[in-house]
Amino acid sequence: MKILAIETSCDETAIALVDASGGLKRPRFKILKNLVASQIKVHRPFGGVVPSLAKREHIKNLQILFNKILKSKTNSPAGGLKPDIIAVTVGPGLEPALWTGIAFAKEIYRNLRLKTHPPAGGLKPKLIGVNHLEGHLYSFLLSQKTVNSKLFPSIALIVSGGHTILIKMDSLIKYKKIGETRDDAVGEAFDKVARLLGLPYPGGPEIEKLAKKGSPNAIDFPRPMIRQKNYDFSFSGLKTAVLYYLKNQKEDKNLSAASRNFGARRPTSEERFLSDVAASFQIAAFEVLISKTLRAVEEFKAKSIMVSGGVAANKTLSNEFRKALKSQSPTTRLLITKFPGDNAAMIAAAGHLNFLQGKNRRLVAKGDMSL
Ligand code: KG4
Ligand code: ZN
Repeated sequence: MKILAIETSCDETAIALVDASGGLKRPRFKILKNLVASQIKVHRPFGGVVPSLAKREHIKNLQILFNKILKSKTNSPAGGLKPDIIAVTVGPGLEPALWTGIAFAKEIYRNLRLKTHPPAGGLKPKLIGVNHLEGHLYSFLLSQKTVNSKLFPSIALIVSGGHTILIKMDSLIKYKKIGETRDDAVGEAFDKVARLLGLPYPGGPEIEKLAKKGSPNAIDFPRPMIRQKNYDFSFSGLKTAVLYYLKNQKEDKNLSAASRNFGARRPTSEERFLSDVAASFQIAAFEVLISKTLRAVEEFKAKSIMVSGGVAANKTLSNEFRKALKSQSPTTRLLITKFPGDNAAMIAAAGHLNFLQGKNRRLVAKGDMSL
């Protein structure tokens, strides 16, 4: 089955073409094209995503990416794009941004139906609405050669700019949310702390870079809700703790938090200080994520952990997860997605699983759609 997928929920315009096979028990995916047009430069001056600008950029970029797909050699050898499924993100996300993808998908669908598709006896192309969070959840399938029952039960952790969710999975399609953040998502906390440190948007990669030069033990920031016997999270207090720490130190040492570029120079004491803040904040956030995930692993006797979402790109997070598993649960497998940031290949994977289950969502943007 060939799947054309479209993703426009936030600030990345993405289109992918993916071959899917193997059914619900052992789905397999081959990515033919996975195109992402990032809008970071457009939003950076505003310190975050501006919905009206995102909409404008999506409309422009969708056509550019789609033309690239049409021209690519990986397209149907018979010539012309003939997907069996068109999958499009319908939520959660910014509604004006989501609508651009939905409208574009509908138009492609209409045009395809007007042409000779389907081939004799073949399936009609199907238009499927996909939950962005299911896209993240299933993104690990894109790099997994085989999926089998040995991975389940599994605990999945989605860590992105909008969400922090812990999920218990009995199988690929039977899952239940067991906890989530009560305020800021962990990626959002990275973005906000980055702003406090004078770093550009998006803050996650910037904090990771800066933290490499600092000590995670320098400052003892709080680990919110780490001891509570539930699977919920809270990160806004941690961000506030960083804010007050910076304020106090600034008064003490008269530091400024302007934008800085270390280059190849030796770090000054101020730079060292900011790297310590970044490293100490990062480890505080990760310790909570890891501790709660491992407690769920223990309670539900999970055989694997699946980590996805933009924050899953962070190497310190995977290293810390590996270290903790080695000492606490060495037989549990750790699967970190190779497709952490927003992309359309993951929407194709989720679209395929939805299609196989006969599941579909209304083609209406739903900004607050939950998992
Ligand atoms: O999944 P994603 O691309 O978009 C959403 O669905 O939100 O996640 C974006 C988030 C941003 O908050 C960004 O700062 C964070 O992921 N992020 C990171 C890293 N790379 C991206 N956070 C920590 N470390 C990183 N290396
Ligand atoms: Zn996302």
